[in-house]
Amino acid sequence: MLIIRSVIAILCLCYCCLQTLLEEEAHEEAIFLQIAQLLLLALSGGVKGIRGESDWQCKYSTGFSSTVRPHSVSILEFGAKGDGKTVNTLAFQNAIFYLRSFADKGGAQLYVPPGRWLTGSFNLTSHLTLFLERDAIILASQDSSHWPVIEPLPSYGRGIDLPGGRHRSLINGYELKDVVITGDNGTIDGQGAVWWEWFNSHSLNYSRPHLVELESSNDILISNLTFLNSPAWNIHTFYCSNVQVQNITVRAPSDSPYTNGIVPDSCSDVCIEACHISVGYDAIALKSGWDEYGIAYNRSTSNVHINRVNLQSSAGSALAFGSEMSGGISIIYAEQLHIFNSFSGIKIKTTRGRGGYIKDIVISDIVMENVHVALELTGQCEDHPDDHFDPDAFPIISGITLKNMIGSNITLAGNLIGIHQAPFTAICLSDISLSVTSEPSSSWVCSDVFGFSKSVFPEPCSDLQAPYSNSSLCLSLLYPTGHAEAL
Ligand SMILES: *[C@@H]1O[C@H](CO)[C@@H](O)[C@H](O)[C@H]1NC(C)=O
Ligand SMILES: *[C@@H]1O[C@H](CO)[C@@H](O)[C@H](O)[C@H]1NC(C)=O
Ligand SMILES: *[C@@H]1O[C@H](CO)[C@@H](O)[C@H](O)[C@H]1NC(C)=O
Ligand SMILES: *[C@@H]1O[C@H](CO)[C@@H](O)[C@H](O)[C@H]1NC(C)=O
Ligand SMILES: *[C@@H]1O[C@H](CO)[C@@H](O)[C@H](O)[C@H]1NC(C)=O
Ligand SMILES: *[C@@H]1O[C@H](CO)[C@@H](O)[C@H](O)[C@H]1NC(C)=O
Ligand SMILES: *[C@@H]1O[C@H](CO)[C@@H](O)[C@H](O)[C@H]1NC(C)=O
Ligand SMILES: *[C@@H]1O[C@H](CO)[C@@H](O)[C@H](O)[C@H]1NC(C)=O
Repeated sequence: MLIIRSVIAILCLCYCCLQTLLEEEAHEEAIFLQIAQLLLLALSGGVKGIRGESDWQCKYSTGFSSTVRPHSVSILEFGAKGDGKTVNTLAFQNAIFYLRSFADKGGAQLYVPPGRWLTGSFNLTSHLTLFLERDAIILASQDSSHWPVIEPLPSYGRGIDLPGGRHRSLINGYELKDVVITGDNGTIDGQGAVWWEWFNSHSLNYSRPHLVELESSNDILISNLTFLNSPAWNIHTFYCSNVQVQNITVRAPSDSPYTNGIVPDSCSDVCIEACHISVGYDAIALKSGWDEYGIAYNRSTSNVHINRVNLQSSAGSALAFGSEMSGGISIIYAEQLHIFNSFSGIKIKTTRGRGGYIKDIVISDIVMENVHVALELTGQCEDHPDDHFDPDAFPIISGITLKNMIGSNITLAGNLIGIHQAPFTAICLSDISLSVTSEPSSSWVCSDVFGFSKSVFPEPCSDLQAPYSNSSLCLSLLYPTGHAEAL
């Protein structure tokens, strides 16, 4: 499978190159160079394909008592009606309340049979498995009064859309342990169209809710489900550890405003694997708090492994870091990414006032198709929670490694704009070959960034051309002792 995927990707790229060749003779030389580079990459095994499905990388599962619970009840036993009209919030709340008594008996499962189960916001409990059968659809209510308003997160100081409070998410967990949200490809549908309309017409009273939000919780597994049409983000884990997200599909329309896929926020030990995410804004976004609130809360996102994911972001980035990163983001491994039809491929976002850091990031084995900007680094995300940020709180961006990447139909290879007072350093690029539609000579834009490169086509700006032989910073990150095994 891995070889077939690589070969197809490469054949595809060569086909595109040849097509362009027929159209634009002027680029002939560059294109031949590129084909040669691609073949070289392929031969050297530089571009690894998608591994077999049995080859799971998420290995944190020690905290789970079991995914098969000794007790199971159906939501039907609590008077729920799967007709798509009856509001079942109370049935979900009562069922979860009842299942709390099984916490010290190995936990319990709440079974959701096929049907359309309309509900407002409800809470989970510890040692619980929420299981959605095939054709079971949890439908979010479109009545905003079914989504209670709660305080903003301490590390944000306000809601994401508006100052002040925010609507509680559809499915919530607070200070939980050992929670599994899974199924046989059941669906959680946020019916977000009303929220997008309220957002676009400025008629929200509070910030929009997410589909699933877990806060201060450990040992979380989310798998084998489809998430549709979230009002805002799909899965938001805040200050959690040991979070695994496996084999899920996430979709929201391309024009849905700021719909994000998976957002690990001030979390450690996170593994995201074999997921298909296609949303309006960032498909996977790693965050850790906003300006003075995030600096004071001081909880980083670290030890995250992302592996074998298909990502599409219409207006944002497939894989994003920040822009809220005031608690720091570090030790992130992302590999085997397929990024397509996106505005930006990989993006690091920050600004002065954020403080914090983004460092020790290794992203490898990436295939990009139809992406406007392959790599973006920006120090100019000038949105602040309020006017009380410290303009002298400069973020540190350093130790960002990108290797083994091929791309076709890319407009701009890189747009890298650092911060003058705090340049981005140790940006390490190797074995990258992009078929760009802009002039190769202008396809990298850089300022206040410094780094190393080898075998990068088109040739990056001079500030990124320090020789790799000098790049001890890059290499030490690739093989940090102990980390690869731990992940
Ligand atoms: C849900 O959990 C929150 C936070 O713990 C709590 O304030 C709220 O009352 C809970 N709601 C229900 C219906 O249990
Ligand atoms: C992934 O989920 C689908 C249902 O959505 C299921 O049919 C398939 O077996 C799952 N794959 C793995 C490897 O768990
Ligand atoms: C899972 O369900 C979604 C939505 O119903 C569907 O689009 C997708 O094809 C299903 N996946 C599998 C593996 O059955
Ligand atoms: C905002 O508040 C007004 C006044 O209470 C209410 O009529 C309206 O439905 C609210 N809008 C939303 C989106 O909740
Ligand atoms: C997903 O579903 C497949 C097929 O039923 C099952 O073998 C696998 O254990 C499930 N994975 C997770 C992580 O729930
Ligand atoms: C943030 O926490 C780290 C340890 O996790 C500590 O070393 C650092 O001093 C803290 N920073 C602030 C500003 O409190
Ligand atoms: C190239 O990518 C752009 C998006 O950046 C897309 O609009 C366009 O259709 C793609 N062209 C081809 C030939 O796929
Ligand atoms: C490479 O490292 C050597 C010795 O550490 C140093 O003298 C030289 O200036 C460096 N070259 C570049 C281009 O950074």
